[in-house]
Amino acid sequence: MLHSHDRRSQLHQPSLSKPHLKDEVRFLQSWFQNPLKTGAVSPSSPALAKMMASYLDPKLDGPVIELGPGTGPVTKALLQRGFAPERLFLIEYNPEFCALLRLRYPGVTVINGDAYALRKTLADRLPGKAVGTISSLPLFTMPQVERHRMVNEAFDLSHPGTPFVQFTYAVVSPVPLVPGAIEGERSPRVWMNIPPARVWAYRRP
Ligand SMILES: C[S@@+](CC[C@H](N)C(=O)[O-])C[C@H]1O[C@@H](n2cnc3c(N)ncnc32)[C@H](O)[C@@H]1O
Repeated sequence: MLHSHDRRSQLHQPSLSKPHLKDEVRFLQSWFQNPLKTGAVSPSSPALAKMMASYLDPKLDGPVIELGPGTGPVTKALLQRGFAPERLFLIEYNPEFCALLRLRYPGVTVINGDAYALRKTLADRLPGKAVGTISSLPLFTMPQVERHRMVNEAFDLSHPGTPFVQFTYAVVSPVPLVPGAIEGERSPRVWMNIPPARVWAYRRP
């Protein structure tokens, strides 16, 4: 719920000039502007976001990297799971989504940039090794070599053995497994999402 002063400041931000829009509409607009980058026509459901967040352990020490937060359903699930806002480092390509996330989740670090240039985009802002990475990026639009490079960069920035979590609508793993280098476990299908999806948790053994 926005307080009245929040609504006023929201109206003064050009990127949030349509505060009445629902997230579904914001998402659809983003999809029309850039379908390959947006990668979905509506935000993830609370059920899918909760499933993704369940793979990260708030009792471990360190920040969380979130890639492609969009309008923030996964961010919300991470907060509900017990991560303090200050532990969340979000990288989002769409500047309008970034403005919305900053307004909606005070204390969270929102970086407007490219998740595929992970280390460069984070620019030493992580306070320590991460407890994992949680991603909603549309991976299939990128070459496999780029996906592997990005996932390995995320592993390098995280505690050993912690996961890179990714949802997908696809039947196959969006990050091809590499025996001994990238292993993966997948969740049951989450039916309460449009379309139904599943979650992969990748780890470097
Ligand atoms: C499928 S949407 C998921 C949004 C949200 N996490 C959800 O689950 O509803 C993908 C998001 O990734 C963002 N994105 C796509 N490519 C990106 C990149 N290279 N770097 C950062 N964000 C990116 C898009 O702008 C979009 O917000």
